Order: sequence, then structure tokens, then C-alpha cells
Amino acid sequence: MNTIITGLQWGDEGKGKIVDFLTESADLVIRSQGGNNAGHTVITKGVKYVLHLLPSGILWEHKLNVIGNGVVIDPGGLVEEIQRIESLGIVITPANLLISDRAHVVLPFHKELDAAREAALGSHQIGTTKRGIGPTYADKINRCGLRMADFNERTFVTDRITHRVAEANEILARYALPTFDAATVCGEVFTAFERLRPHVANTIPVLHAAWKAKQTLLFEGAQGTLLDVDFGTYPFVTSSNTTAGGACTGSGLPPLAIERVIGVCKAYTTRVGAGPFPTGDAGLSDYLHGLGREFGATTGRPRGCGWLDTVLLRFACMVNGVTGLAVTNLDGLDAYDTLQICTGYDIDGTLHTLPPAERHAWSRIVPVYETLPGWQCDTTACTRYPDLPAAAQRYLARFAALCGTPIAFVGVGPDRAQTLTA
Ligand code: IMP
Repeated sequence: MNTIITGLQWGDEGKGKIVDFLTESADLVIRSQGGNNAGHTVITKGVKYVLHLLPSGILWEHKLNVIGNGVVIDPGGLVEEIQRIESLGIVITPANLLISDRAHVVLPFHKELDAAREAALGSHQIGTTKRGIGPTYADKINRCGLRMADFNERTFVTDRITHRVAEANEILARYALPTFDAATVCGEVFTAFERLRPHVANTIPVLHAAWKAKQTLLFEGAQGTLLDVDFGTYPFVTSSNTTAGGACTGSGLPPLAIERVIGVCKAYTTRVGAGPFPTGDAGLSDYLHGLGREFGATTGRPRGCGWLDTVLLRFACMVNGVTGLAVTNLDGLDAYDTLQICTGYDIDGTLHTLPPAERHAWSRIVPVYETLPGWQCDTTACTRYPDLPAAAQRYLARFAALCGTPIAFVGVGPDRAQTLTA
């Protein structure tokens, strides 16, 4: 079944693990948005793989992985990632990795421009990953970006980089940030591109041929719905459409190719970077950090943690058309005695069951909670859904009812084997 896997919260929902689990029955795994701001951790047979741009299907033999046109690619970062994953024994060739020739390229100065924009925002910073994601998408939309296909025209690329470096240097100098030499940037980028060249292709006919041949397609979302540039907690969002629609615009496959949307969320909520977090809870954050959990895969930053927020999840299920929930990290709550679920937002005395658009309303939210008993036992050895303690099953059932979406999978630990089918 052709499936989109999408994050329903602020990223870091454990999508990599669910993608990895569902890849067994897929022929192709496709990334369609974001860049190396994403960090997917997959643990299999005791080996930990951290992936940023490579689709998780790279860890399996005989799967084709496609980095679609909607992704922004840092060529040097991708070359390093390929080398790192190859050093763990994975063989990467054009037979298992293709990169869209229409994908836009993150240039070294985009990362510094990301830092400059943050500096300009002062106390209103977004808390970006500083991977140059926003400035690269801005250039794409401003029609002054560079795509993989452009690298076959050396003079065009050299001229454009020279022009953009001059513009970027003016901004960077204003913030006392390092400036760039165009010739050095060109040298670095062309060297990385040459390493990637065998993988660069027109991926659209490849994807359509696979679809027509009834191969199974799996779209691996990055970040999450609340970081979507349209549906997220704007402006505290990333610069791409992280929701299900982005899978089509970011790959060239049409909506009718999609048969299922699995929405991944944690059994609680986490967020990194700045922005509103109505159910954030210092006690739960300290507890989970104390267990060594909830440190970012890309930046190592501790994530803020909070109670399950079904106002956000209900909205996320709507805009993605989620057909089944994959709930991860249930085991993170194993020891808690009572659990809270946010069922609504009280904003100035009015109950809201969907998130507001107004920036100022976010700071006035008083979450309305329902309290459920915890299960206070170890779920990590459960191998079937009915093995879960009754209180855990009740928590999940309430969760699903509040989101209006059935549970499809439950994760009780990082290993591929610790994923239960509901
Ligand atoms: P950017 O994507 O680096 O521009 O960062 C914008 C916002 O998205 C920041 O709050 C980041 O922390 C957040 N963000 C970006 N990628 C991820 C991710 O993969 N997981 C969680 N948060 C992310």
C-alpha cells in the first residue's frame, strides 16, 4: 500500500523507526521535503544509524531510496553522511540511491545567512537548526536558487554563486559573521557535486514507472505538522510543507498515488527551538531527560517535553488526512503514576478544540486536562498489542477517540522489534 508517513507534532516523533518498520514491505522510500535539519535515528541489530538526508530505506538491501525535488540538499553534508553510513557497512550505489535533478542546493553561505537572520530577530529567534534551510527555500521561491541539474552548466553556476556570495557577504558583514570567497565556495560545491553526480537523475519518471508497476511506495516525512510553514505555529516553523500534501509536490507523484497516511506522534509531546508549547511541563521534561531521553539527533539540544496535546493532534489528523496513528515512545511513560491528556484550550474563557492562528492567542492558552491512571510497569518487552497493560490500552483508546483516528502501531522501545501492530 502506498503510504505517507508524516509527523503530527513538532518533529522528533520517531518517524525514522516507523519508516524503517514499514520499509520491509516497501520497494521505494522517498524523501520529499526538508533537508539535513532532520535527524532520524534507527537502531537495528544493535547498531545505531543517524540519518539526516538519506531515506531510512538505505539500511535495507534491494530498496530504492529517492531524495525528491522538494528536498534541499547540502552537497558536502550529504557526501559526509554517505561516507559515515558506508563506514557502518552499508553499500550505497545509484541502484539504491537517486537524487532528484530538480532538488535545490544548500550553499555554504546559506548556513551563515540562517545565523544572520536569527541574529536579526534578537529575542524573537526561531531557534533554527542553522542548516541553511530557510535561506535555501527563500532562494528557491525568489527564483535565484541552484538546482542539482544546473551543475551541468559550470559557467551559469559559477556566475550565480559569485553574484549570491556578493549579496550574502553584505548581510553577513552587518552581523560580523564570516564572509565567503566565491571561488572557494564554487570549488567546494563542485567537488561534492562530482561525488553525488552518479546518483542525480530525473526521478519523476522513475517514480511513475514504479507506481505503474504497482511497486510499494513509502514517503518518509521530516519534521512535523506543527512545523509546517502553512499549518504550523508560524513563524516558529520550518520552511517547507511537512504535511502529507508536501509528499506530492516534493516528489512529482500525484495525490491519487497515495493510499494511506500514517501519522506518527509520541505518547507525549516534545519540541525543540522556540515557539509556543501549551502542554510543556518542566517535571516531565526533567523526568525524561533523567532517563537519558529526548536529546536532539541533529543538534544534541535537550527537547522540551509536555503532556499529550489532542488539540494539536486532532488538527494534524485533519490536515494530513491521517488514516492510522503510530504512537511512539509509550515506554517513556512507563513509570508515571498519573498521566494528563490535553483535550481543549481555554482562551479567555472560550473552549477551543482546534489550535488558533493568532500569534497572541498562543500565549493565553490554558490547557484543559483529563487525568488518566498510569500503568507503572515495563512495556518494553511487549511484542503484541494485547500484551500492553490494561491502563496503557485505555490511554491509547482515549487518545485515538480524542483525535478521531484509530491507532495503527505502538512503539515501546527503539529497536525494530519493539513496534506493535494494533
Ligand atoms: P529550520 O528547519 O532549521 O529552519 O528550523 C526551524 C524550526 O524547526 C526550529 O524550531 C527547529 O528546531 C525546528 N526543526 C527543524 N527540523 C527539525 C526536526 O527534524 N525535528 C524537530 N525540530 C526541527
